[in-house]
Amino acid sequence: MKILVVKDYYDMSRLAAQAVAEVVTGTEKPVLGLATGSTPVGTYKLLVEMCKTGKLSFRNVTTVNLDEYVGLGKRDEQSYVHFMHENFFDRTDIPERNTNLPNGLAKDLDKECARYHDLLGEYRQDLQILGLGSNGHIGFNEPNTSFESTTHVVDLSQSTIRDNARFFPHPSCVPTRAITMGIAEIMNSKKILVLANGANKADAVYQMVYGEIKENCPASVLQRHPECTLIVDETAGARLLNVK
Ligand code: GLP
Repeated sequence: MKILVVKDYYDMSRLAAQAVAEVVTGTEKPVLGLATGSTPVGTYKLLVEMCKTGKLSFRNVTTVNLDEYVGLGKRDEQSYVHFMHENFFDRTDIPERNTNLPNGLAKDLDKECARYHDLLGEYRQDLQILGLGSNGHIGFNEPNTSFESTTHVVDLSQSTIRDNARFFPHPSCVPTRAITMGIAEIMNSKKILVLANGANKADAVYQMVYGEIKENCPASVLQRHPECTLIVDETAGARLLNVK
């Protein structure tokens, strides 16, 4: 794993946007795996700027997102599809038909998981962006998810519900289930870019990089990926800096 510890959130976002731009310009039909949450917001902002100033176009890009809450759709402000439209899709030239997320409103969730798995077979990510849960989750793959997992429905852990409650009017409004890309499908990406900022991620970052590769820390599997880069700010990387 290539590790970059940078000064702050802005530097993390700048390097991440550069990495995305390189894939977009250097690939014929780029497929980007995208993440939500507060971590990649700055990266999306910079990519939007690049697009607005004519430096980068997403016209030929296809996107596949990691996850979505069960029961939320585009009209729900806390849904990930809403987040993606607000932070990225509606501000760039990407055609909406090229954007993909699991459908949290699907009536038959098993069928929806199968559809998304097939889609990922067709659109293998050239680059997958990942944030990191404070419990080491990636996408919504909670601790003890099989490394062989494909797109599935998860019951969110109490700690994830707590962490994500800040986006909702009340903790009781946080959905308890989500559809997530599986770990095998994340690992199938040609390149992976993990981003983390803030002191509450320092332990998860340390476990991901130096912990035993074990299902109790889903992110530890990334040690096995041949082209994985981690960009962290100084606070999230604090425990890495102390390793001699
Ligand atoms: C959620 C998402 C993850 C994200 C994580 C961290 O649980 N499903 O994909 O990486 O939160 O979020 P944040 O970036 O807001 O810390």
